[in-house]
Amino acid sequence: EPQSEISHILSEYILDRSQYEKVSSLLLDEMEHGLSKEHNVSAAVKMFPTYVRSLPDGSERGDFLALDLGGTNFRVLAITLNGLKVEMKNKIYPIAPEIMTGKATQLFDHIASCIDNFMAENGLSGQKLPLGFTFSFPCKQEGLAVGRLVRWTKGFKCEGVEGEDVVTMLHEAIKRKGLGVECVALINDTVGCLMSCAFHDHNTQVGVILGTGTNACYMEHLDRVGTWDDDTEEPKQVIINTEWGAFGDNGCLDFIRTKVDRDIDATSLNPGKQLYEKMISGMYMGEIVRMIAVECAEKGLLFNGQVTPELAQRERFYTKFVSEIEEDNNEEEGYPKVRQVLDELGLVNVTTEDCRILKHICSVVSTRAAYLASTELTVAVDGSLYRFHPHFHDLMFCMRLSEDGSGKGAALVAAVANRLRSRSA
Ligand code: BG6
Ligand code: GLC
Repeated sequence: EPQSEISHILSEYILDRSQYEKVSSLLLDEMEHGLSKEHNVSAAVKMFPTYVRSLPDGSERGDFLALDLGGTNFRVLAITLNGLKVEMKNKIYPIAPEIMTGKATQLFDHIASCIDNFMAENGLSGQKLPLGFTFSFPCKQEGLAVGRLVRWTKGFKCEGVEGEDVVTMLHEAIKRKGLGVECVALINDTVGCLMSCAFHDHNTQVGVILGTGTNACYMEHLDRVGTWDDDTEEPKQVIINTEWGAFGDNGCLDFIRTKVDRDIDATSLNPGKQLYEKMISGMYMGEIVRMIAVECAEKGLLFNGQVTPELAQRERFYTKFVSEIEEDNNEEEGYPKVRQVLDELGLVNVTTEDCRILKHICSVVSTRAAYLASTELTVAVDGSLYRFHPHFHDLMFCMRLSEDGSGKGAALVAAVANRLRSRSA
């Protein structure tokens, strides 16, 4: 019976509570390893200290440039901080796929040209502006403006950058262009996200990115960071970039990974790496759905057995399709938005039942992603009031969408760095 065959295919994506609890406790163990001096070398979850030691306090002022590299779009930004007033301009610059997987100097020269163009267009040419560099890849930082790329993740694989300090590479390219810009801070996008949210709400302690990739950072006490060997003056805290996307790279998540998860990993730019990320983030979610849909179609359980060339093509099923499909609740009219997506994939003459099944596949895959991503965002609460009150949970926890972390957050870190620098000069 088709219904039960589909349920069977999807069953390995529907994890039970004890499996999620195991994932959660494994992640906690991995984080402890990453923080400890003895275990860090072998840890999959690296827990990099970022050298960002305090949250913004509203006194940040000045004009800054920022770069945002590593998400969907590469952008150059100009930010003016003035108390709680923040003014921003930004421009998206495309990065050709040949550059993303080409040579290091090409990438950094391209970035410097974009800075040059942006400054010219905004009447900033010739100015010596401090720059915050949001570089959303795992970096082992040796200071606020020094960080070696450990390895590329997501869609980048540029030769000659791994192991190098990306700020030095940026400075060299800036010099080649004859620009007077100085990078004063290197930050991860999670840190930008946390900083920009903390600017408005000082209670913010954790920054999470669920985008092309996934990662989290949080403020940690210095005495819990075994790998910290810099000064231990007040404030005795530092933001830790967890790089949780690499969770599972030592095999500890193999008990839940499916054939599709393994296949996606094997054909990726970074096989064996970022295994947790590959089960969760936007770069991979559409592809997981596509592969399950193809399996169902090949078994004659979906689309009357049709697999169009578009559906057969890797990465052709964009993650935004998953959102569009799940948003369509219009069963009465036979799911018009789902049909629109299917139309883009060359699938016509589909039935309402096909749409319903595809919606179900999407929701199983996105639910697994959401549960996996939330395992370490769990706060232990108990008690009858919390348990039995219908809305207590929704009222207590605040997930705040942090807007434009890479711009505002990078400028906020740059502002602090710049202040410290001028004080010591
Ligand atoms: C953006 C931030 O809003 O989200 C970026 O400004 C971040 O810094 C990005 O990298 C993550 O999402 P995505 O989907 O673009 O990878
Ligand atoms: C990847 C990167 C990480 C980044 C995340 C979200 O996991 O390694 O640094 O924060 O993507 O963009």
